[in-house]
Parts: sequence; structure tokens; C-alpha cells
Amino acid sequence: MNRRRVLGLVAPGLVALGSLAYGESGAEGWLRYAPLSNAAAASYVALPSQIVVLGDTPTDQAAATELQRGLASMLGRGFTVSHELPEEGDAIVVANLATLSRAFALRGDKLPPESFTLGEKAEGKTHRYIILGADPRGELYGVFHLLALVGAEKPLPAKPAAESPSSPIRWVNQWDNLNGTIERGYAGRSIFFDDGHVRSDLTRVSDYGRLLASVGINGVTVNNVNSDLRTLEPEMIVEFARIADQLRPWGVRMSLSVDLSSPQMVGHLTTFDPVDPAVVAWWKSKVDEIYKAIPDFGGFVIKADSEGRLGPSKYGRTPAEAANAVARALKPHGGVVLYRGFVYNNHLDYNDLKADRARAGYDNFHALDGKFESNVVIQVKNGPIDFQVREPASPLFAVLQHTSQAIELQITQEYLGQQRHMVFLVPMWKATLDTDMRADNRSTPVKEIAEGKSFRQPLGGFVGVANVGLDTNWMHHPMAMANLYGFGKLTWNPDLTTDQILDTWTRLTWGNDFTVVSTIDELQRHSWHVYEQYTGNLGIGTLTNILGYHYGPGIESAERNGWGQWFRGDAKGIGMDRTVATGTGYIGQYPPELAKVYEDVNTCPDDLLLFMHHVPYSHVLHDGKTVVQFVYDAHYEGAATAQTYSPRWQTLKGLVDDERYEQTLKLFTYQAGHANVWRDAVTRWFQKESGIPDKLGRVGNYPDRIEAEDMTAEGYTPVDVKPWETASNSKAVVCNQPSGCTLSTTLDKPAGTYNITVQYFDYWSGKSHFALELNHQPIGQWIADDTLPPARPDLHPDGETSTRITFPNIALKTGDTLSLRGIPDNTESAPVDYIEISKQ
Ligand code: GCU
Repeated sequence: MNRRRVLGLVAPGLVALGSLAYGESGAEGWLRYAPLSNAAAASYVALPSQIVVLGDTPTDQAAATELQRGLASMLGRGFTVSHELPEEGDAIVVANLATLSRAFALRGDKLPPESFTLGEKAEGKTHRYIILGADPRGELYGVFHLLALVGAEKPLPAKPAAESPSSPIRWVNQWDNLNGTIERGYAGRSIFFDDGHVRSDLTRVSDYGRLLASVGINGVTVNNVNSDLRTLEPEMIVEFARIADQLRPWGVRMSLSVDLSSPQMVGHLTTFDPVDPAVVAWWKSKVDEIYKAIPDFGGFVIKADSEGRLGPSKYGRTPAEAANAVARALKPHGGVVLYRGFVYNNHLDYNDLKADRARAGYDNFHALDGKFESNVVIQVKNGPIDFQVREPASPLFAVLQHTSQAIELQITQEYLGQQRHMVFLVPMWKATLDTDMRADNRSTPVKEIAEGKSFRQPLGGFVGVANVGLDTNWMHHPMAMANLYGFGKLTWNPDLTTDQILDTWTRLTWGNDFTVVSTIDELQRHSWHVYEQYTGNLGIGTLTNILGYHYGPGIESAERNGWGQWFRGDAKGIGMDRTVATGTGYIGQYPPELAKVYEDVNTCPDDLLLFMHHVPYSHVLHDGKTVVQFVYDAHYEGAATAQTYSPRWQTLKGLVDDERYEQTLKLFTYQAGHANVWRDAVTRWFQKESGIPDKLGRVGNYPDRIEAEDMTAEGYTPVDVKPWETASNSKAVVCNQPSGCTLSTTLDKPAGTYNITVQYFDYWSGKSHFALELNHQPIGQWIADDTLPPARPDLHPDGETSTRITFPNIALKTGDTLSLRGIPDNTESAPVDYIEISKQ
């Protein structure tokens, strides 16, 4: 084997992208408008080349320009835009009810707000294709719908059929800070803010508005729910208006997260008691000031009495009193309050077996149902804890029957791999949206509650925590954009199937080639389940380090503290007893029919078992496996599937552009390694805690590994890794000599060809250099310069910083000497966990 070639082939960062044929940055997302094949383009030949837009608002303009741009690019012919409808002559007409009636003195069809129809109209010899919106926003949505049909090579409707959004609130929240960082953002800095101000260049904001509008999203809350107190300062409002200006043409209204203490902290009142007349007056005048600067302002998102935020409890007031005071100020302007249901005590007593964070939403809000102003919407996270890999639907959904609600979903993958793991979230969201709460013993699926249908509420809808950043492709992982897209499509129509959403996203994002579409759809389709398999199963929670960055494994971090993400695992059993009979009583918060299913350990679905019940490790699941063996098997199966991502992706080389191909390949390679870190951490923890070995003998038994601490070290010293389960054998080695250190070992492998994997740790604080040699000849060298989450300096070798590199096809024989040289950089000590030598 020519080792030089191996070096050139595999060393990350050394791949010469410049030589590749073509590339795409991902900046366009699903709005690439890639040219169709001649055959595909031919099926749209009847579409007239003249676009006539009847209105002249910025949204009308945006719609017409977008249509021109998209059709020209995809169909490879010219399209003109004009404002006058010719007496004769074919045209695509872009109109809304108002512009249509102005042009023709006609009373147009009745269409619900924001909806549209597409359809043909032939009169004599003239052929017109009409995109008719109820209003400019509907018109824009009609344009994007038509473009998506063309992009995915689907037929255009001939007869008009109305497409309407499910609900009025279709918003994203960005958790951006004014200093330019993003709370739980994994794709670079804020597109809105920098250094305490709104950015001078807001090009990306307009681009974001375009992407959002293309999937029907009509609102963006631009700042962190943990709101900066400067948010409502007069000079900031002037700055925010510039963001609203960029979003307006796209029909996207800007809104702000505000802190309830603002009347005192910003307004310098002596109190922020929501019912105090001075406070009421302050909110009124502040809101008037905002609407002067931003006439289409959407409203406020409020996080209060939660995770250290101040709230009405300070004055013995309820969330309803607080929300209403602010809502009354917004009402005359058409603004709304989204008051978050995420109110809980993060200083719970672990020793109190009745204490339960999951109860908090219901406990804090159920008595307030019907007491909110009509422009208040309670924004409820999908599950009762906090965006874990699997949670039941929040019981609050069934309780608020006289109050508008919006479901809050998290697009940014906080607990779900932080856009370094591929996790397609639509199936997870649908699991909640399709949960039938059985309120009043009738069908009340969460999606219909959120739409306002089940309990006939005027508002309601969907809020997604998006957190896109300045990374060129918005979300860092090319596959993660499917989540932003999917969220939008679900807000428009929550009855769309996972496959409908996925298939169109893939076609628009990667092209219509059959192999490309089927391979990517198949990779994404099960990726949530795969991630669940190698992280936290059976409803236990994600099992990540909840006290750190919520990324790598950190199993017991959830236990014995006030945060209440407990699973109460000990030598005898595991799981939260939330039954009415013996536990916290949480299950009793569900309507009776659903409560009955969860209360009985025999009818409770296995995938929520440990959320609802405390059981022995030997408890037998519906599939006949014990809990502990299920955990072992699921982790090995999930991690094994993650190993297949790269090879499956490699079958697409040359079928997709090289730039996104390489980017995705790098992420899949990383994910495969990190899935193993997860697998080993969780399975070892369960084996140690339960004392029950894996029937298949895999856990704790890694015959291909050579632990770094067992190799002959020159300069390297062993350290204990914390938490213990996050490194092989719970130890790593670190090098504290600036000139570098070496590990070496004599191999006892029979002659053959092997893969050599080095599992090491990569912090943001340095770029250590590594070189691997076989019998003093180089195999490869690399630099630990990845930007793995956390995006803040983590100076520890652990399950968050652990990563690996693999050198394939290396010829080895017994007696060979393998050595690894590490040279530290800055505060990164070239740490190593193990070397694994495995057969192909
Ligand atoms: C999670 C998240 C926080 C966020 C909070 C919220 O707890 O980790 O960063 O502020 O949710 O939704 O308010």
C-alpha cells in the first residue's frame, strides 16, 4: 500500500477542494431553482413568458421578481414582468383579491386570509395562468408554491383549488443576543445583531425572510427569549425597525422578546407590577412608540418566572394578569402576546419523590384558562420538560380550552446533535402533533388544538425556535435545512406526511435524480430514531450533559440537582414514577382516556416507559426484551446505522455538487465516531449501574482497542475523564510539553489490511498537531482544528470534545510498531483516548 497516497486521501483539511468540478454553498437553501432537464422543462412549455403583476406593494414586487427569477432559472427561457394586463396575449397573472377587483371592477372569489389559488383560464385564444392570493401575502405564497411544483417536476393545477394556512401564528423565534451570539445557535453568529447593535449589513435578513416566506412563515421574533434589557430602549427600537423593513416585502412581521421587568429597568418606574396603573401606562406608550417605527410589528414573546427571569410572581400576580396588561397595549394595533408556558421552578428538591418538573405547565396555567385577553396566545413546548429526544405531548394542550395556544417546536438541535448529527425532526414533531389528547373523550389531536380548531379559538398556531446563523448555509449541516423547511410546511398544513415534506425538500435542495432523492430521503427518514437509539431510549431523556452544553453524553448530570430532568436510576431500577397511584401524579394531568393508557405499565407505550414509570432493569418490554438489554441493543443498532451514513452518501459522489458533498461527508464521518462515543458511554453506564451484563458481551469489551494510557508514553500523562463514561476505560492521555509527546505500541495483529482509527479530543482553544507512524514511516498527519460544539471553550477531554480520524486500508503485521506523536497548541494538550485497529 502506498502510504503517501493514504495521507493525501484521508487527512482532513488537506483535501484540495479547488480541484473539484463545481460547488454550491447552500446559501440558497431549497430555493436554488436549478435548471430542469430539457424533457422536464418541456412539460411547462404552456406557461406564458409574460408575468403580469397587478399590484405594486413591495410584496407584489417581491412575488413577481421571484417568479421571474425562479422560472427563468429552472426553465431556461426569459420571462418579463409588467403591470398591465394586455387585452390579448398569454400571461401569468399575479394578483390578489384587492388588485383583481381594482383591475376588473370584479368581486373576486372569497378566500381566507393568506390563502391562494393556482389555475388556468383560457378565453378564446388567450391563455392565462392565474396566481390569485387573498392578499399580497397569499399571492407570494402562491408564487412560491408554483415554483416548488416546477422545481420538484410536479404538474401544475389546472383548476383553481384554494390552499390555506392552518392557522394565523406561523412564527420562528431566534434566540439571538444583541452582542451577536445566539443562545443554542450552532451555525455561526447572528444575522441580526453584532456588538450590541443591529448589523449595518442586513442582506442575510432579507434572504432569511425570503426563505421563510417560501414555506409560509409569517413572523420572526428576532431576539433571545432571555431578553436583553436594552431591547425596549428607544434607540434600539429605531434599530429594530431596520430589520422589520427587510422582512416586510416577504410578508414576515417582526416581533420582540421582552422582559417583564422593563417598565422598571428601562422605564425607571418604581415597580413592574403588571396591574399598577403606571406600569399599564408605560406598556401602552412603549407599544405606541414601537408601532410608530414599525407599523406592522407582530407583538411580544414573554418568558417570565422561568430560569431566573423575573415575572409577575414577584408581586403575587398571575401570568394572566401580566400577559393581559401587555396584550391590552398591543390590541389596538393588531399585535399579539405569545406568553410562554415554559414556567417552572429550577430548584426542585430531588429527595422529594412527589416533585416533578413535568407537572409545571399544567400546575401554573390550568386555573387561568379563559382568563386571557383574546390577543394572548400561550406558547407551549411540545413536551413537558425541554425538547428531549422523545417526550409525551404536554398535558397543557388539553387543558387550555378557552385560551389560544401555539405549539413551540425546536428546529435548532439543542439536545439533538447541534447540527453536527443529522436528525430529521419532522417525524418527531408529527408524533406530538398527531397525539390524540382525547379531551372531553373526543378526538383532539395536538395539531388541531394548535390550529385553534379543537376548542374553536381565534388565534393559535406554530412557533419554531430556528436559530439560523451567519454560516453560509444557515444551519451548518446541509441536512438540517430540512428541519426549517419541514417546520414551515407543517405550520401551513400539519397533515402533510413526512414523506411528502422530505421528498420535496430533497428534490429542491439536491435535485431530481432518482438515486439522489431516494438515497437522501432514506438517510433522513429514520435519522431521529437512529439518534434516539444511540442517545436516550424508552423516554428516559436525551442523557446529554444537561449542566453543560447539552451536546455529548453526561448521564448523571440529570440527577440529584434542582433542574428536574431526573430519571431516578439506581442499582435496582430506573425511570420516573409519574403515575397517579404511586408517583408524582403527572399522568393524572392528561384527559382520562389518555391517562389510563399511560398509568398502566402494560399499556404505556415502551418508547415512553421510563418517562412514566420506574421499573427494574429486568422489566420485560412488549418486544420480549428486558429494559437493560433493549438499551444495549438499541445503542449498538443505532451506532451501527450511523456508520452506514458515510458509505451511503459516498454513492452520490458526482451526482451532487462537490462542495456540499464534501461538507456532508465530513459531518457524517464525524457523526459515526460520535455515535460510538454515545453508545459506549450509555451502555457502560447501564452495565455498571444495573450490574447486568450485555447478553452479547459487547459492552466494556473492545478487543480492537489499544487504550492510550496502556501505550508506551514519552511525555504523555494519563488523566481521569469526567464524567467517567465519556472516554474508553475512563481515561485519556494529555501532553503538557510544548515540543510534543509520543505514544507507541508493538502490534500483535496477524498480517492483513486494517483500518486504524485514532480517537482523540479537539477543543476550540487550540490546534494540536498529530502524526501517526508505522515502523517510523508516516501514515498520516492532521490538525485538531474542528469547530465541534460547544462553541465555547471546553478544555476537557470528554464526550463533547471526543472525535476521531480513520486511516483505511493499512497493511499491518505482528511486531509492527505504531506510534502517535501529538504536539499541543495553546491550551489544547493533544489529548488522546485510544487507537482502534479493525478489519475492513
Ligand atoms: C432551554 C434552553 C435555554 C432556553 C430555554 C427556554 O432550557 O436550554 O437556553 O433559554 O430552554 O426555552 O427558555
